Amino acid sequence: MSDVNSQNCMPKLVIGDLEINKPIIQGGMGLGVSLAGLASAVANEGGVGVISAVGIGMFDSEFKSNPLQANLKCLREEIIKARGMTDGVLGFNILIAISNHTDYIRVAQEAGIDMVFTGAGLPLDVPGCLNPDVKRPKLVPIVSGGRAAAMICRRWKKRHGFVPDAFVVEGPLAGGHLGFSKEEISDPKCSLDNILVDVLESIKDIESNYGQSIPVIAAGGIYTGKDIKRVLELGASGVQMGTRFVATEECDVSDIFKKLYVECKEEDIRIIDSPIGLPGRVINNAFVEMFSGKPDIKVKCPYACITSCKRDKALYCIAEALLHAKVGDMKEGFAFAGANAYRIKEIITVHELFEQLCNDYCASN
Ligand SMILES: Cc1cc2nc3c(=O)[nH]c(=O)nc-3n(C[C@H](O)[C@H](O)[C@H](O)COP(=O)(O)O)c2cc1C
Repeated sequence: MSDVNSQNCMPKLVIGDLEINKPIIQGGMGLGVSLAGLASAVANEGGVGVISAVGIGMFDSEFKSNPLQANLKCLREEIIKARGMTDGVLGFNILIAISNHTDYIRVAQEAGIDMVFTGAGLPLDVPGCLNPDVKRPKLVPIVSGGRAAAMICRRWKKRHGFVPDAFVVEGPLAGGHLGFSKEEISDPKCSLDNILVDVLESIKDIESNYGQSIPVIAAGGIYTGKDIKRVLELGASGVQMGTRFVATEECDVSDIFKKLYVECKEEDIRIIDSPIGLPGRVINNAFVEMFSGKPDIKVKCPYACITSCKRDKALYCIAEALLHAKVGDMKEGFAFAGANAYRIKEIITVHELFEQLCNDYCASN
């Protein structure tokens, strides 16, 4: 599944005919946290750079009158921009819960994206939305357990004749929306290592029946090269990391957002109930505190962008809160962050981060 990379001692990540020099994927981060700047910097280091599609067109003048068209136009432009900045491997991340998600996937495919990462829902309609005349990107569902992985494999094979090219298994220490209940987040049964082994076990028969290896990528709480080594020894073929990439110079978010990562303490990182019906991990602030007190406020939804959003009950619009956070207006928003964000002490370049991870990986036994 992977051979050793001569420039560092990490193995390459091989997904079908796609060879990725370093087995590190930068997780897609909305809203506007991972765009062409961060994604191209990661791809230039030999990892996979991932553009987030969430609310990508919200700064476009057409957004208010036609949000879908604005999002699709900006997604296409962002992929072309990133492509102009790197020859490396580029992916894009889309939440299945986003209205019209299949339109985004087709646009990304036609713009030449190498990989599609799908989160927040079962991507059962994804293979059917692809343009048959354009090269198929690698399709990588994000799951939080073996049952979902096996189900996706069986359903895709039956209806479309192929299985996913890889899976990301994301554990409860990740930043952003989480695929676990609040109780599961602290349940050791749901730890990354346990669910990684569960996914590997669940797809074993499928791999041997279909004669295809399906690499599994571990995400959520991976912080050091030693962490990478640990999950690779458990059977993962690579890692997906979010939090550490936020604290880089190239990350596409405001410096105010990054500064929160440097300054936060462990006790500032907390779980909220997101309006989209999932728990989310954030850095606490006055905005988060206000809405945790369940004030008697009703938001008027301007977008209907997420199918699972409880718009009639929502206390605030998550898209607008994340948009404010992206530009550093933390009075009206908050920063998503992984459980390890408090360990960040400085903002470094993506190149320095890769060096640290590789050196640490090579030094750990
Ligand atoms: C600021 C932020 C925004 C995120 N947004 C998304 C997103 O839009 N879609 C998604 O699938 N995952 C999202 N994630 C999860 C990351 O892609 C990644 O899988 C996760 O953060 C890995 O855990 P780590 O932060 O401990 O490395 C986000 C994470 C962060 C920190």
